[in-house]
Amino acid sequence: MARPDIDGKYFLSYEHIHQSVRVLADRIRESGFSPDLIVAIGSGGFIPARILKTFLGIPILTVGITYYGPDNKPSDAPHAVQWIDEVEKKLAGRRILLVDEVDDSRVTLEYCLRELLRHAPAEIAVAVLHNKKKEKKGVLPPEIRRYYAAEELDDKWICYPWDARDITAHEKIARSGIFVS
Ligand code: G4P
Ligand code: MG
Repeated sequence: MARPDIDGKYFLSYEHIHQSVRVLADRIRESGFSPDLIVAIGSGGFIPARILKTFLGIPILTVGITYYGPDNKPSDAPHAVQWIDEVEKKLAGRRILLVDEVDDSRVTLEYCLRELLRHAPAEIAVAVLHNKKKEKKGVLPPEIRRYYAAEELDDKWICYPWDARDITAHEKIARSGIFVS
C-alpha cells in the first residue's frame, strides 16, 4: 500500500541526530577550527546547536529567518524575523560557527552569511547536519573557507524528530532504517 507520508523520505531519530552532532564536533576539532560562539539559524538549527554546545562548550546566539512575510504569504527572498541586534557587536573579531539542520537550496544560508559578514567577524564557518546533494541556488561567499556537513544525503525529504506529532511512531520508523523505500 502506498504511504506518501512515509515512503521515499528519511526518518531520523534523536539518537541519530545526537551522533551526527558528535561527528560534526569531532570534525570541527580535528580541522583545527576553534569557534568562539555558535550562531543558530532558527528554528531548524536550534536543537543541533544546543547539542553541539554539549561538545564544544561555547555560547549560542540565535537568528530567525523566514520566507514568509508579515501577512503569512511567501516572499521571494528570506528575511530576518529575529536578529542579533545589540549583540551584533559580539561578532566583531570573533570566530563564528553558523549552525543549521539542513543545507537545501542554500538560499537561507547565503542570506545569513552575508548579514553576519557585515559585522567583521574574524572567521565564519558553516556546520549543518545534512547537505542535500543537489544544485544549489545560493552560494557560499568566498570568505567562507570551512564547511562541515555530518552527512551528505540524496535530495529527498528529511523527517526530523522535532517535527513529529507522534514521536513514538516516528522513532519506530527511524529504527527500521533511516531511508524508507
Ligand atoms: P538552506 O539555505 O539552509 O538550504 O535553506 P532553504 O532556504 O533552502 O530552506 C527552506 C526551509 O526548508 C528551511 O526551513 C529548511 O529547514 C527547510 N527544509 C529544507 N529541506 C528540508 C527537509 O528535507 N526536511 C525538513 N524538515 N525541512 C527542510 P525554514 O523555512 O527556514 O524554517 P524552519 O523549519 O527552520 O523553522
Ligand atoms: Mg531551517
